[in-house]
Amino acid sequence: MLGYQKESFLHLPTPVEYLPALSAELGIEFYIKRDDLTNLGGGGNKLRKLEYFLYDAKTKGATVLVTVGGAQTNHGRLTAAVAAKYGMKCTIVAIDDYPGEISANILLDRVMGAEVVLHKDDGTPLMDIVNKVIARYKAAGEKPYFIPMGGSDELGALGYYECAQELKEQIKDGRVIVTVGSMGTYMGLFCGLHDSPINLTGILIGPFYPDVTAHAMDYFNRCKEAWNLGFDGEEANFHIRTEFIRGGYNNPVKEVREAIYEMARKEAVILDPCYTGKTYAAIKDMVACGDIRQGEKIIFIHTGGAPGLNTPSHRREMEKELIDGVIIE
Ligand SMILES: Cc1ncc(COP(=O)(O)O)c(C=O)c1O
Repeated sequence: MLGYQKESFLHLPTPVEYLPALSAELGIEFYIKRDDLTNLGGGGNKLRKLEYFLYDAKTKGATVLVTVGGAQTNHGRLTAAVAAKYGMKCTIVAIDDYPGEISANILLDRVMGAEVVLHKDDGTPLMDIVNKVIARYKAAGEKPYFIPMGGSDELGALGYYECAQELKEQIKDGRVIVTVGSMGTYMGLFCGLHDSPINLTGILIGPFYPDVTAHAMDYFNRCKEAWNLGFDGEEANFHIRTEFIRGGYNNPVKEVREAIYEMARKEAVILDPCYTGKTYAAIKDMVACGDIRQGEKIIFIHTGGAPGLNTPSHRREMEKELIDGVIIE
């Protein structure tokens, strides 16, 4: 893609499915693109980015993948998956507290053989901890390769530039809605869809940026230069909604859980409480206030993340709400 090579390990394209029950419920033409069904380590959006990182890492002779994120990073889990598949070691570094148990993504990281470094927040910069891990590997004769937070740089975003080409084959028009975290997914789609009638709206799910549009502009310009894009970004063209953060990143929220239950009970599609559940809750709010028109065609990108349902803070809230349907005899 755009002169860059990748290691192909995904069965693409991922399907676009019509959601009949929720289309009727919401009064829209509602589709979901199943990037959660990508085929390694439980699946999710980061795998498309990792096809590009893995090629680069292999070209450089890497033996270890090192990446960063929160303790429950899906990106870390999928980096662990790719490392396992390609016979590499993997370390995931997080500035985070130990959640008191090994569950959700941390469990899967360990099941797939990755090391997880949880450094309590004491003011140490994240990259200092990463550099210590890298130095330890180098001293042991390994060749570490670092992948940035969420895989969101110019190389990682290529995975979603490519997804945009796939989407243009699958749908001709409508509005794609996608979660925004570290923004690589959104930016790849933004660049890849710019020449098409398909619109794009991002839903920011955490308070990450003092000025999200300025960040998008800066990221776009880096991609433009790296990929030799022949068009300019304009601030007005970035549609990233910031009003659906609901008080924090990866925080338990009742409306988000209700959105997750609705999607699961009407369409048997499992969302997650940190990313896709928040985005579906935002879609429902946008329908309710008319930001999404009745009859509008919406394509929701399911970016994965379901292992996050087992994060203790989320699971505890769900247990309270769902215990009434467990008959203990
Ligand atoms: C399940 C899921 N959806 C969406 C995102 C957001 O993607 P990006 O970081 O590329 O904005 C992430 C990022 O971690 C994720 O794990």
